[in-house]
Amino acid sequence: MSGHEQSGKTSHDHLLDHSYDGIQEYDNPLPRWWVWIFWASILFAPLYITYYHFGPGMLEIDKYDAAMVAFFDNQAKELLAMGQIDDALLDGLTDDAAMMKGAKKIFQSKCASCHGVFGEGGIGPNLTDDYWIHGGLPTEVYTTVSDGVPSKGMLAWKRSLRPAELLAVSSYVGTLLGSDPPNAKEPQGKEFIRPATPIEASTDGADAVADDAAAEVDDKETAPTTS
Ligand code: HEC
Repeated sequence: MSGHEQSGKTSHDHLLDHSYDGIQEYDNPLPRWWVWIFWASILFAPLYITYYHFGPGMLEIDKYDAAMVAFFDNQAKELLAMGQIDDALLDGLTDDAAMMKGAKKIFQSKCASCHGVFGEGGIGPNLTDDYWIHGGLPTEVYTTVSDGVPSKGMLAWKRSLRPAELLAVSSYVGTLLGSDPPNAKEPQGKEFIRPATPIEASTDGADAVADDAAAEVDDKETAPTTS
């Protein structure tokens, strides 16, 4: 059987000179287009990895994070514009695990140098006790963090943190209360007595976020309060 006389054969097909049980094979080069794609993909891979993993390129997860940050910022701005930052809202945010995780990172990178990693105090006051110089209500903490106390070395963080970060880190301070960290600094300021009744949620013009926060505060009514 003369297989190499098949119709598809061209003049430069190169037939290997062995045969397996009468079966012979060609030794033709790969098509040019295939070889070009092969080399192009080898060149492309390191460029892609360098640009997206080590360079300015944004991976999908980064794009997603950026979109979420923009979303929360807008929401925070709207709440600020409507004057809806209240104690119930700030308290409610402490139940948002993802937000508190982000806030903890902000606290450790921006605040820990003066207030200690656990909020135990250092250059700045202890944030875990019941004593406050500028008030211990969530909104008072928010105002202190936002406007700062420039004369005493506490920065006005509204200048360098985005609205959502400001809300998150202020709420996070609320979670430190009573955590009793090691090396706690002595109390400063006045003792703050937590209101006996849970902080009332404002309902005027409340949107979904404020409603959520209110619902979460309602949940807490049954939980024992830390004193
Ligand atoms: C450069 C040091 C420094 C940094 C950084 C800093 N603080 Fe402060 N903070 C202070 C000082 C000092 C005070 C006390 C102000 C006073 O005596 O009136 C203070 C006060 C406060 C208070 C009020 C405490 C009270 O007793 O009323 C809060 C809340 C607070 N800081 C939160 C934060 C948060 C949140 C951050 C990070 C975003 C932060 N601080 C970063 C120095 C700092």
